[in-house]
Amino acid sequence: MLFKKTEVQQVANAMMNMLHEEEIDIVNDFHDAVVAKDVPKIDELFEVLLYDIEDHFSTEEDMMEESKFYAASIHKAEHDSMRKKVKAIKDAWDADKDAQKVQNFLEGDFKSWMVLHVARWDSETAMHLGDSM
Ligand SMILES: [Fe+2]
Ligand SMILES: [Fe+2]
Repeated sequence: MLFKKTEVQQVANAMMNMLHEEEIDIVNDFHDAVVAKDVPKIDELFEVLLYDIEDHFSTEEDMMEESKFYAASIHKAEHDSMRKKVKAIKDAWDADKDAQKVQNFLEGDFKSWMVLHVARWDSETAMHLGDSM
């Protein structure tokens, strides 16, 4: 398990909380497969995770655009930097199937980014959105 549910804070928008809970479940399953160095499972769940991350980020970006959130472009830039990192680690995995590298990424960069990003950008965006969408 990479995240306990309580490690990622709740924000003021139900849709965003749902996206985060879903992502935590998926990334926890993925992390289990990575720790077990289960190559076929990692291949399978990597695709699920990539799809989920894109769904998470683009849903937030759509909501920000619709509600004219003043810092939408900064929030999106934060997503873009994580999109790049995730793509790089997927490319590395495809090239060398090194589960340890993926594990280090999840437990390091990814985990700390997720906690800080939700606390900083998602929570502020959620306050702007409220529970209206
Ligand atoms: Fe988020
Ligand atoms: Fe976000």
